[in-house]
Amino acid sequence: MTARWIDGKAIADEIRLEIAHRVKEFVSQTKYKPHLAAVLVGENPASEVYIKNKRLACEKVGMESTLHLLPADIRMPALLDVIASLNRDPTVHGILVQFPLPGELDEGTVVHAIDPAKDVDAFHPLTVGLLVEGKPRFLPCTPEGVHQLLLRSGIEIPHKHVVVVGRSSLVGRPLSIMLSQKGPHADATVTLCHSRTKDLAYHCKQADILVAALGRPEAITANMVRPGAVVIDVGIHRTSAGKLIGDVAFDEVARVASAITPVPGGVGPMTVTMLLENTLRAAIFQRQA
Ligand code: GUN
Repeated sequence: MTARWIDGKAIADEIRLEIAHRVKEFVSQTKYKPHLAAVLVGENPASEVYIKNKRLACEKVGMESTLHLLPADIRMPALLDVIASLNRDPTVHGILVQFPLPGELDEGTVVHAIDPAKDVDAFHPLTVGLLVEGKPRFLPCTPEGVHQLLLRSGIEIPHKHVVVVGRSSLVGRPLSIMLSQKGPHADATVTLCHSRTKDLAYHCKQADILVAALGRPEAITANMVRPGAVVIDVGIHRTSAGKLIGDVAFDEVARVASAITPVPGGVGPMTVTMLLENTLRAAIFQRQA
């Protein structure tokens, strides 16, 4: 079998077009644009690229984005002051503080400081709590990106056995909650595997849908995949030769899977797309509040 490629770029473009239409409608009704405030602390080249991409994506769908550049040696109270002023600013709808933070700055404290109504990363404990309750306000960007990739590729989720590898609070854990929830777009049976799982290959091989989010280059090999399974690769790594690869050994797994996401061009473009969705939701939510 040769797997069908799930084209994350094309699906992300399709969703961004829909978001752009909704933004236009919002602007015509309210006379203002949904506005994402991005906070970047220090000079991390990877973070600079991520922030640039996020801001560009905002502009392309008609949203406003502002960048708040802060020095690497900023102290926690000053950083919290910046967040408090963005929380108070009624023209700001979404706040994103790019991680990792340099030095001793505590990411948990920063997450807790963001107004949950502006929590477009969906990291705040209130946002996570609402998700666990089954009444989400914002969905975490990468997990929802994976979910949308499956839905829009016509891959049935209800009754399927989804095996998620990796229990991070950013991806694996929230995704396992989302896909096991009640509803026509979820209702999966989910197994969550992690670094302490015994016989990882055995569990992976039970999957109808296998999601690799363990953060180890090409850790998922063909012998771990049931023939015909759908494989979603959340990982992204750069080899010493400069090539981008995922958590899945793509070439060999593509020979046994029925569908697979490439790296790059799979989950990656979906994450930023879901940030746009959350920023629009935040603007709508604050208008109604
Ligand atoms: N650093 C890596 N991924 C993310 C993300 O999704 N949000 C934020 N704020 N920082 C990140």
